[in-house]
Amino acid sequence: MTKPRYRRILLKISGEILTGDRDYGIDPEIIRQVAQEIKEVVSLGVEIAIVIGGGNIFRGMAASSKGMDRATADYMGMLATILNGLALQDALEKIDVDTRVQTAIEMREIAEPYIRRKAMRHLEKGRVVIFAAGTGNPFFTTDTTASLRATEIGAEVILKATKVDGIYDADPALHKEAHKYEELTYLDVLKKQLKVMDATAISLCMDQKIPIIVFSLKERGNIQKVVLGEKVGTEVRG
Ligand code: GTP
Repeated sequence: MTKPRYRRILLKISGEILTGDRDYGIDPEIIRQVAQEIKEVVSLGVEIAIVIGGGNIFRGMAASSKGMDRATADYMGMLATILNGLALQDALEKIDVDTRVQTAIEMREIAEPYIRRKAMRHLEKGRVVIFAAGTGNPFFTTDTTASLRATEIGAEVILKATKVDGIYDADPALHKEAHKYEELTYLDVLKKQLKVMDATAISLCMDQKIPIIVFSLKERGNIQKVVLGEKVGTEVRG
């Protein structure tokens, strides 16, 4: 069997993936599929931490652009990520994957608070750890959370699973002639203002030299392919 390229990864799942063909919320079939793919990677012996977005339920930025106070809107977005985190935990545990949810905003009745050392112990014991509630601070995105948590737990790579199969020079949904990049540097992403992750998230990855691989979760088996070192999506590195 091929050896995994990574020992510990941080998987960033965008909330939008979870809607499937709906316009809102969580499609139970999609979350089951995502859980199954995660299970396959766990069975390779790879330690997986997950940061999950909340855009399928509530988008802080969109609400603030319509006049809502940005900090309030961001807190609502953080709560949305907790809903997704609990749904993913449920889907994983249904297929016997040990999972712990940790929230950046304390709500002990529902989940553990984020404690870095505890998260690392969970990972060492083969549990999937889901980080919910973003960084716990408004004005930060879940992409920045992914960079921050990846750094904190010593993840070797950030796998950013989205609806698009890599990074393009224009939105491929709107522009047929859009060109997909195979590889990019952090500086390319910043200079070209590519909409991969926000600048805070990219800068942190650049400082910490954590590569980011952007790929589509719509194709079955992609997480495993990336983990086994197959060329999938676009890789951003130094
Ligand atoms: P170890 O025993 O240290 O290997 O880890 P563990 O997570 O199995 O032990 P622990 O006794 O800390 O947790 C048992 C269960 O309670 C797990 O499902 C945890 O996610 C959960 N848990 C732990 N702390 C909290 C908390 O503060 N709030 C909530 N809601 N659940 C918690």
